[in-house]
Parts: sequence; C-alpha cells; structure tokens
Amino acid sequence: MNTYTTIPRHYFQLALILICTCFSSFQLSIAESKGESLYLENCAICHGNDGQGGMGIPLSLDGFLKSASNDYIKKTIRLGRPNRIMPSFYRMPESDVNEIIHFLDSWRKAPAPLWDIKPIVADKHAGKILYKNKCATCHGNNAQGGKGSGLHFSRSDGLAITPPALNNQGLLNSATDSMLHYIITHGRKDTPMPSAKALGLSDKNINDLVSYIRSFQLKSITHKSNYHEEPASLIVDSPYSFDETVENVKRAITGSNFVHIRDQALTHGFNIETTNSPKQTIIYFCNFSFLYDALKIDPRAGMFLPCRITVIEQNNRVQMMSINPKHLTQLFNNDALDESCDQMHDVYSSILEDASL
Ligand code: HEC
Ligand code: HEC
Repeated sequence: MNTYTTIPRHYFQLALILICTCFSSFQLSIAESKGESLYLENCAICHGNDGQGGMGIPLSLDGFLKSASNDYIKKTIRLGRPNRIMPSFYRMPESDVNEIIHFLDSWRKAPAPLWDIKPIVADKHAGKILYKNKCATCHGNNAQGGKGSGLHFSRSDGLAITPPALNNQGLLNSATDSMLHYIITHGRKDTPMPSAKALGLSDKNINDLVSYIRSFQLKSITHKSNYHEEPASLIVDSPYSFDETVENVKRAITGSNFVHIRDQALTHGFNIETTNSPKQTIIYFCNFSFLYDALKIDPRAGMFLPCRITVIEQNNRVQMMSINPKHLTQLFNNDALDESCDQMHDVYSSILEDASL
C-alpha cells in the first residue's frame, strides 16, 4: 500500500508505518493467519513479533496469560491505556479484535481464565499504606506507573519492563477485582513483578491493595470525540510542475520563519531522498530545538519527527502531502502531546500553503 496516496484503511496503520521508520529493529514476518497478521500490523511493534515485549509489556509469558481473560484483553484493546503508550483501538472492527484474541490464544498453555466480577470489599486505607511500602518504588507514588510510558528508545535487551500504571482508567475498566487479586498473589513470573509471598503479604493485605487500586477508578471513561474530524494526512494540490513544486516546498521550509520555532534557528540541512518512482520526492527537514523540546514533552513525539513532506505526481496531478500530527496525537490519546502536535500541524499547514501560492 502506498501510504502517501491513500488515506489508510486501517486508522492505525499510518502511525505504525511512522513508528517503523523510527525503530529499525522492526522486522517483517510472514503471518499464518488473519489474527497473526492483524497482530503483526497493530501490536507487534510494541509487544514484539512473538509477544516477547519491548515498548509494550510481554504478552506471551505464561505469567501474563494465566492472569488475562479474553474479556480483559478485549477491553484492553478497546480502551487502551490513556496517557500511557498503549493506544485505544476503539474503531477496530469487532471481528478483527476477535481474530487478535484468537491469535493470542495460540500462545496459551492452559485455557484462558474467566474472572468473577464480584467486587472485593476491603480496607483501601490499609491498602494505601501497604502500597507505599511494597509497590510504590516500581509503580510510582500515585500508582501512575514507571517513568517513560513504557517507552525507552535506548533500552538494551534484558532491561526491566516498565511497570504499568495502576491508576489507569484503561486498566481499571478492563480488570476485575478477582484478576487484580490473582496478579498480586502470583506476581508475574519472569518479569520484575513479585508475588505476594515474596513481598510477605497476607490474603487480607492483597484484598486491601485491590481496594486501594480500585479507588482510582472514575465513574466514566471518555474518548476524544473529535477523532473523525482529523484526516490522517494533509494533502494539498500544487498548480506547479513536479520540479517546481519540490523547489517551492524547499523555499517554503527555509522561508517559514513565522512558525513557533523561529527563534531557535538551525532550520537547515535538506536531505532529499528520491524513491524508485522518479515522480515522488520526500523532503526531510528538521529544526533541532523544536525536536529537542518535543522529545522532552514525550519521547513519542519522535514518531512524527523529523518532519517530511512528500511531493508526488500522479495522473498529471502534482500533490504535496504530509502526515497530520493532530491525527496521530489522537491515536495516543495523550494530552501532553497535543500542544506539540498542534505546533507541528501549523508548521506543516503553512509550508504546504506557502508552497502552493
Ligand atoms: C505503541 C505501543 C503499543 C501498541 C501498538 C500496542 N500496545 Fe499494548 N501496551 C503497550 C504498553 C506500553 C502497555 C503497558 C501499559 C502501561 O505502561 O501502563 C501495554 C499493555 C497492554 C496489555 C495489558 C498487559 C497486562 O499486563 O495486562 C495488553 C493485553 C495489550 N497491551 C495488548 C495489545 C494488543 C493486543 C495490541 C494490538 C491490537 C497492542 N497492545 C498494541 C504498548 C502498546
Ligand atoms: C520490582 C518492581 C515491582 C514491584 C515491587 C511491584 N510491581 Fe507490579 N508490576 C511490575 C512490572 C514490571 C509489571 C509488568 C509485568 C508484566 O510484564 O507482565 C507489573 C504488573 C503489575 C500489575 C498488572 C498491571 C497490568 O497493567 O497488567 C499489577 C496489578 C501490579 N503489578 C500490582 C502491583 C502491586 C499491588 C504491587 C505491590 C504489592 C506491585 N505490583 C509491586 C513491577 C513491580
């Protein structure tokens, strides 16, 4: 599929392709089933081709699979983990979600568990104290999870898995109390998550901890409603020839000192890469101060940096295209990223507009 000429059928595909350009370790595998190919397309980039983990936590380990009911996995796929890195696939067709769950089943050594939905009623204040003593060093003082959204660009193999956020509405709306009880009791073998036994916790302690974690749950969980309004790509027709358009884009980039980044200099260094098709040129550009600022807000900003604009000629029509950062940021559902994405959106829009004048 040509990313630059069609709006992706699968809304997440574009984001993945962009992520792929940043993580060279990603390797293509041949899928043997629909579920596997959906997994490879949507999940493998973070959870690993074989579920061994990476940016996302391991999904093929027995410790995880024994704790995860299919209902839990389904809800997790739908809700994601807002403000962490796990996206919410709430527009994925039901049949695709089921295919993925079916594929994950192939890693199971035992049938998927079914969790009792009965709430555990216990002492959340006692749980809070236990939490501070036993869990906070890994999961954060306020259960906000380990630093870095699970994402480490320079993480070497074998380094500890980033502890998930336990105050997360995605987790809390997916996991039952009985599932949380099970996880705390058994820990997650082959990961840093210790068992209750290793931490010296009684069954009452475990119940109190579950109550405390549950106390973070809000009454409702909302999705951003503006999702449909943002197209995946920004596409502008050029009234000029292909070569002229390429020159115009370059001029617009150097001339775009009106953007938010203007004081930070260093907008330079064109790197023009001509693909196999002589009529498609990708123009990369970069502003190092902006890059630095955006990465400081969240390393995920790296997924749409460095900036690039594609000029393409097809059927006697010249078009300029870029990704739409406002679309991407919605996929990640992270307020912290919105501002830098808005800035990026303005940069792209003004360059495209300027180049078409
Ligand atoms: C951009 C990276 C990314 C992608 C893509 C992604 N995940 Fe995740 N996922 C994560 C991270 C990170 C976590 C841990 C959440 C946290 O850190 O709070 C997670 C958590 C999960 C969990 C909960 C694990 C547990 O311990 O209970 C499941 C299940 C899961 N992901 C399944 C999937 C599936 C299935 C897909 C594809 C449809 C997918 N993820 C796509 C990053 C990702
Ligand atoms: C040494 C660090 C460490 C400590 C201490 C720790 N955890 Fe964890 N915890 C982790 C890691 C890492 C994971 C992810 C495991 C995986 O990859 O499956 C995890 C996973 C979890 C999960 C599953 C969350 C999800 O998104 O699926 C729960 C619930 C949890 N921990 C609760 C606790 C509680 C409660 C305590 C204190 C009694 C605790 N943990 C102590 C590191 C820790």
